[in-house]
Amino acid sequence: MFRPAAIRPATKALCQSTRPTLPIAFFRSVSSTAPLRKDFNKSKKDPLLAATTTAPGGALEAEGQYARTDENVKIEYPDDEHMPRSPVVQGRGGMHFKRTLAHFSLENKVTLVTGGARGLGLVMAQAIVASGSDLAIVDLNKQEAEEQAKKLVEQFQKENPGLEADQMPHVTAHYSDVSDPESVSGAIAEVIAQHGQIDHLVTSAGFTENFDAISYPHDRIQKLWGVNVDGTYLFATGVAKHLMERKVAGSMVMIGSMSGAIVNVPQPQAPYNAAKAAVRHLAASLAVEWAGHDIRVNCISPGYMLTAL
Ligand SMILES: NC(=O)c1ccc[n+]([C@@H]2O[C@H](COP(=O)([O-])OP(=O)(O)OC[C@H]3O[C@@H](n4cnc5c(N)ncnc54)[C@H](O)[C@@H]3O)[C@@H](O)[C@H]2O)c1
Repeated sequence: MFRPAAIRPATKALCQSTRPTLPIAFFRSVSSTAPLRKDFNKSKKDPLLAATTTAPGGALEAEGQYARTDENVKIEYPDDEHMPRSPVVQGRGGMHFKRTLAHFSLENKVTLVTGGARGLGLVMAQAIVASGSDLAIVDLNKQEAEEQAKKLVEQFQKENPGLEADQMPHVTAHYSDVSDPESVSGAIAEVIAQHGQIDHLVTSAGFTENFDAISYPHDRIQKLWGVNVDGTYLFATGVAKHLMERKVAGSMVMIGSMSGAIVNVPQPQAPYNAAKAAVRHLAASLAVEWAGHDIRVNCISPGYMLTAL
């Protein structure tokens, strides 16, 4: 999972002729290609394939329970003196110390982020609040959403000392299972009741799991598509309806994945890849359908990101 992230800085270092060249062994240890599966039994003994394709039946019902990475894959970092140099950047640990440029300000807007209690959704939520927006975190894990909502306001206060209470962002936490239409409409109604409006939407709730296609349990495929595809569709249409009723402009960012355009190796995750391809084309389709309503729809397709997922 982490190999590409490790390779990128290394590649960059190699491309810069003034930088020290990394030992070739470094590249060998972090790059691998899944063997062709000519001999199934033999390939099953391969630790990489064993860790990614032999998912057990599974007793627990939780999103992502079948996702797996190979703990035998070790990331080797170069010694300090061989580390690629990069310029010092503003901020620390992903937190913003400067407000967004006026042109990109989200002042007086309300943004709803699904899956905002953790991972990419949470990081985007931090940037959204730093840009001046009020925020509604919607997540299956309401407790985590509440804790993060509190921390976001505390962080904002730290970065903007001296602000009056009415200048602080209004950040709320809401429960929703994004795959359930009733739960989605309930959460949207709750957000509107507490904030008065929704202007922007980020759909980050999603998960992956790894089964080879032939043995993928059908109910798991339904759940996976339900969260990744239906969840995106339900929130997008719910928020678009609200914007159209208010006759105001808005924007949406759907979180797809590089897996919606390419096939990752060695993860056996055909349904996830198909789900993210669906999200990507859903964004394009809705962008065209709602352009006349001033609703902008985009899709971001992240590569490998170090999150709980
Ligand atoms: N991490 C990566 O490398 C990566 C790469 C490409 C795309 N993505 C996509 O980015 C999005 C966020 O991923 P992440 O890495 O931050 O994952 P994460 O597991 O850290 O966070 C996902 C959040 O979504 C919530 N969630 C899951 N199912 C839900 C449901 N049914 N209803 C409401 N909330 C639900 C979880 O509680 C969690 O807070 C996902 O759509 C994922 O597919 C991630």
